[in-house]
Parts: sequence; C-alpha cells; structure tokens
Amino acid sequence: MRALSATGDDGLVELVRVPEPSAGAGEVLVDVQAVSVNRGELHRLTAADAGWRPGWDFAGVVADQGTSGTAPAPGRPAPGTRVFGIADEGSWAERVAVPAARLAAVPEGLTVERAAALPTAGLTALRTLRMGGDLAGASVLVTGAAGGVGRFAVQLARRFEAEVTAVVGRPERGEGLAALGAAEVVVGVEEVKAGFDLVLETGGGESLREALRLVAPHGTVVSFGNSSRAATSFSVSDFYPKEASLRGFYVLNDLDGPRTADDLAYLARLVATGELAADIAAVDDWRDARATLHRLRDRRLAGKAVLRVTREKQG
Ligand SMILES: NC(=O)c1ccc[n+]([C@@H]2O[C@H](COP(=O)([O-])OP(=O)(O)OC[C@H]3O[C@@H](n4cnc5c(N)ncnc54)[C@H](OP(=O)(O)O)[C@@H]3O)[C@@H](O)[C@H]2O)c1
Repeated sequence: MRALSATGDDGLVELVRVPEPSAGAGEVLVDVQAVSVNRGELHRLTAADAGWRPGWDFAGVVADQGTSGTAPAPGRPAPGTRVFGIADEGSWAERVAVPAARLAAVPEGLTVERAAALPTAGLTALRTLRMGGDLAGASVLVTGAAGGVGRFAVQLARRFEAEVTAVVGRPERGEGLAALGAAEVVVGVEEVKAGFDLVLETGGGESLREALRLVAPHGTVVSFGNSSRAATSFSVSDFYPKEASLRGFYVLNDLDGPRTADDLAYLARLVATGELAADIAAVDDWRDARATLHRLRDRRLAGKAVLRVTREKQG
C-alpha cells in the first residue's frame, strides 16, 4: 500500500510504498479515505528523520474487524461501516490498524472529509475545556482561535455557556469567529482586561506569559501548544498570588479509555446536526500534501486542512 512518509527535509512528506498493517489485539483495520493535518504533525515533520510515518486523524471504511473467523466481534463496527478516529501515528496511509476504542461511526449526513477533521482538534478542544470545570457564565480566553483547535474551542465553550474572547494574529484571521460564538475577537491581548476563568493557550512564548497574567484568581491556564516555538519567561509574582493553576494537556495520552469513542460520537453528532461547524479551509488530494503543509506552516489556512486519500487505478 501507499503512505505519506517524512522526507527529513523541507519537502516534509512523500508518497512511498509501505507494508500493509495487520490488526493486533483489539484493533480494527480501516481503509482510509480522508485524513486531516494538524500543526503538531507539521512540527514533528519539521524535525523528523526520513521514513517516519505521520498521521493521527482519519476517516474511512472498516476493512476488517481484526478477529479471525466469521462471527462479528461484539462492540466493533462491521466491515463496510464508515468510521473515523485517531491513531498514534501512521494514519496518512491507504490503510490503518487502530484500537476499536479510538473509533466512532460516521453519522449519516456527515462526509468523511468533515469527519476526518474532527478527532485531534475536536477532542483537544473538548477535553481542554472540561479542565475548566462548569463553564456556565465563565469567561474563557482562546488563543490561536482562527486555527483548527481554536474554532472548535470557541464554539464548544459557547455551547457550554461561557463568554468567549478569541485571540487572532491579524484582523482578517478573526473573520467568522463572532458567528461561531466569540463575544469578542481581539488581535493580540494588550487591550484585554485580566480575569479569565479559563485560558486555552497554544501560542507559547509571549502568549503563555500573557495568559499567566490574564488568568483570574483561582482560574486555570491550560497550556497545550507552542505554535511560536519560543521559550516563555514570566514574572512569577504576577501569577502565584492569584493561586491560579497552570496545567498541561496532551491528547494522545488518554485515548484508550471508553470515553474516546463517546467523545468522537458526540462531536460527530453535533457536526451532523449543524450544531458545530467543522470549518474546513482546504480539501486537497494527498499527493499535494506538501503544498498543504506549507500553507499551514505559513498561517494561510483558517480552519482545518483535509487530505483525500486517493487510490491508484487497479490493472
Ligand atoms: N497538546 C495537544 O494534545 C495538542 C493537540 C492539538 C493541537 N495542539 C497544539 O495546539 C495548537 C493549535 O493546533 P492546530 O492544529 O489548531 O493549529 P492551527 O490550525 O495552525 O492553528 C494555530 C493557530 O495559532 C495561531 N498562531 C499564533 N501564533 C502563531 C505562530 N507563531 N505560528 C503559527 N501559528 C500561530 C494561528 O492563528 P493566527 O494566524 O490568527 O495568529 C493559527 O490559527 C498548536 O500549537 C498545536 O501544536 C496540541
């Protein structure tokens, strides 16, 4: 089969032939039709050795339930079912083997492209918001709000009845965020008044320093990205008197429990019913992945980028 593999240089990825995966215990084989691209994958690719196989998100069709014999495995989607989910790596491929706990069915009315956009960004937004507890009436600051995670976070925070301030890098990057539920869209945080109950922080560098300054007494800053790739220095005396919390989050750490399938199903249901927008900035053929990754790197995509996994013609 074919898969996208790291080149180890500025080309980032190339299509190569790799062995077919086989399903291990508890795993399902999925024929992949669409994958999405996350900034974290771009960061990894920039530093990866040639041959590393990227890819977390995917959507496609179950090829095999991963059990021997003909009896269907209880609780696992039957062959032919449209599913989407999240792998540890290697999903940018024609076929992937993943634990059944990391899959959910693609509901009717949802395309595989939109389903593929959901897992990493949607789960990250949902789970980091949960770290703020009950958000009804809470004030939430979302950095990187124009991006994949940011757009889901703005919408879900609003859904949980929070008052959302969305931070973007340039005015045009703020387009559409008010419609998604942001009460305020700001370019940088210089003018923003301190006192946020929850800050979702992915800029790193100065952005994290500002988050620690802006969080309310007993509030929470969740740091889960470093888009700027910069180190942070901050005045501890701006932070500790507030008895606020700084917490980390890493989506791949906690995927094998029963909650992942439920969370994926929840996100898909919201998108299928039109209650959550999966804003897709680009749907490209996976043969053009390099150009897609370069546009993501240059901050020219507002929302998710999806790659269609096209197959070679047989015969
Ligand atoms: N820890 C985890 O489990 C986890 C999971 C998913 C994502 N993440 C992290 O969360 C962040 C968002 O991920 P994503 O996939 O949503 O990325 P994305 O779509 O590229 O969005 C990132 C946003 O950050 C903003 N940004 C601010 N400063 C930036 C800088 N110096 N360089 C690039 N972008 C900058 C950009 O918005 P403007 O152009 O408007 O500034 C962009 O819209 C990334 O840092 C990613 O690594 C972490």
